[in-house]
Amino acid sequence: MTHDRLDLVSKLYQPSGWPRVLEAASGAPSSAPLVVDLDPTTFCDLACPECISGKLLNQSRFTPERLAALAEELVSLSVRAVVLIGGGEPLAHRGTRQVLRTLGEAGLGIGVVTNGTMIKQNLTELAQYASWVRVSMDAGTKETYGIFRPDRKGRSVFDKVVENMRLLAAEKKGALGYSFLLMSRREPDGRVVTNHHEVLQAAELAHDIGCDYFETKAMFDDDHHIVQVPEEMLESVDRQLAEAARLESDRFQLVNSSTLTSLRTHVGPVQPKEYHRCRVAELRTLITPSGVYVCSYHRGNPLARLGDAVTDSLTDIWQTSDRGIVDPSRDCRFHCARHGSNEALERIGRGAGGSRSRRTLIRSSSG
Ligand SMILES: C[S@@+](CC[C@H](N)C(=O)[O-])C[C@H]1O[C@@H](n2cnc3c(N)ncnc32)[C@H](O)[C@@H]1O
Ligand code: SF4
Repeated sequence: MTHDRLDLVSKLYQPSGWPRVLEAASGAPSSAPLVVDLDPTTFCDLACPECISGKLLNQSRFTPERLAALAEELVSLSVRAVVLIGGGEPLAHRGTRQVLRTLGEAGLGIGVVTNGTMIKQNLTELAQYASWVRVSMDAGTKETYGIFRPDRKGRSVFDKVVENMRLLAAEKKGALGYSFLLMSRREPDGRVVTNHHEVLQAAELAHDIGCDYFETKAMFDDDHHIVQVPEEMLESVDRQLAEAARLESDRFQLVNSSTLTSLRTHVGPVQPKEYHRCRVAELRTLITPSGVYVCSYHRGNPLARLGDAVTDSLTDIWQTSDRGIVDPSRDCRFHCARHGSNEALERIGRGAGGSRSRRTLIRSSSG
């Protein structure tokens, strides 16, 4: 169970959130989302070659004033939880501290996905208000970090990020996670570079820093299809994770993302879907400086764009947009982490399954 799951689901499925869940289950438009993924900025100080958002970086922007007003709007729409993510690097916007204060003071759940380079500048608010902070590390050493997460001048800022994580570990109220995306790359000279061999070392470092969890994930290609890795690499990762299991305790967990399970079971890149309307899109949405999108898988996709939060209020956007512009059977043929939730919502909408569907919904709504 991930901390993401613990925090968002407990917020989402409190009885007061249930009316909106039932609205969505019936296939009707919801009055407002329950969870918002928010990219404060498209700017990023790192230049990770495999970044899924590489083509979307450094585009339009929210002014600090608009970002502050947006946070107020989220509170007044009774959004339950907000995940600050990117797109770019959420802590790079100078208005993010205010967003954390506004949402945190109003009691919303807050998750932050960050590269960690700017934790220090945001330390007080992160420590005080974030339900969880997940730092994308993808390495256990400075050298490998520099290969997969170089800064814009090609340097490795690994030591600084580790130091920042230690600062947060000492002060945080919420959970701190270390995420490790399994990656390999063929260099122009034909050599293959990978980070797979550093899983155990990274888990040990996460434990030493004082993280609450260590999460391994599989990589996506540009179309969000999971990139299959060679069998021997997967076996090596599994051996390292088995060894890392000795670190587990009440205060340190190893978390397996569903993407890694997909790799192990060789389900292939395509996840066919029968339904034509995404019910989860009524409950969770993505707000970025370049547009509001049906979900984070469709970040930057003009066909899934609901409106422009730079110029328009979220209330207007939500009331006038049609989340049905995305047809999952046609537009979402990759593995979607919300697929189980969509199936459970459909069953609830048909009046089938009551508490079993509700349990499935709760179990499958992380990520
Ligand atoms: C694009 S980053 C933006 C937030 C922040 N700048 C960071 O580095 O965490 C959001 C998440 O996407 C993940 N990510 C980046 N490229 C990816 C890819 N090709 N496949 C899967 N996940 C990816 C990162 O590991 C990170 O956890
Ligand atoms: S990718 Fe998943 S969450 Fe996004 S619209 Fe498609 S089915 Fe819904």
